[in-house]
Amino acid sequence: MSIVYGERIRLRAVEQEDVKKFFEWVNDPEVTQGLTLYLPMSMTDEERWFERASTRAPDEKPFAIDMRAGDGWRLIGNCTFFDMDTVAHSAEIGIMIGEKSIWNQGLGTETISLLLRHGFETLNLNRISLKVYSDNPRARRTYEKVGFVHEGTLRQAVYKRGRFGNVELMSILRSEWEARRKENR
Ligand SMILES: CC(C)(COP(=O)(O)OP(=O)(O)OC[C@H]1O[C@@H](n2cnc3c(N)ncnc32)[C@H](O)[C@@H]1OP(=O)(O)O)[C@@H](O)C(=O)NCCC(=O)NCCS
Repeated sequence: MSIVYGERIRLRAVEQEDVKKFFEWVNDPEVTQGLTLYLPMSMTDEERWFERASTRAPDEKPFAIDMRAGDGWRLIGNCTFFDMDTVAHSAEIGIMIGEKSIWNQGLGTETISLLLRHGFETLNLNRISLKVYSDNPRARRTYEKVGFVHEGTLRQAVYKRGRFGNVELMSILRSEWEARRKENR
């Protein structure tokens, strides 16, 4: 897996040194509000996550998300493919941009666009899907912008902040992604 470069973002393999930042972000309630995480995470939990991640199938190893900063790069989050089905050529994605100060600047949109390019052009996927909480409008808008289509709602499938919430299923097919690419040329 080589580094995936975009205009402002690059996706690279996760390194041991990244874990400290991840530890900070997975304990930030504003970040985890949109994620399946709900318990405090220790540094040991995060280190174990890193060890397990390094033993995952190559296509499912998480990426560190870096943004351009001056002449270098700054870590802002991570993202991954999972539940890869090599017969159906499908997979799910997940993303966390933990650096809140740079939310709403289009960096999530660029990251997902790079993941889609990688998924369709490199991993030969035909379908990329995701699950997003109904009360995460920023994430839903991000996915819509890159062409994800709403497929359905899992009713009261999550319990957060003392109440049950819905989970939305979204996906994009290779044909839809290619059609959008032609349109944007
Ligand atoms: C979700 C996430 C990846 C989005 O990344 P980002 O860089 O903030 O997103 P972008 O700037 O590319 O796009 C955000 C869009 O949502 C819009 N938005 C933000 N808050 C919104 C709200 N409350 N209601 C509606 N739209 C909203 C922004 O205006 C922007 O749309 P626009 O370009 O049409 O103006 C990032 O915020 C994140 O990782 N959050 C924490 C973890 C998380 O929730 N992960 C997703 C789990 S499914």
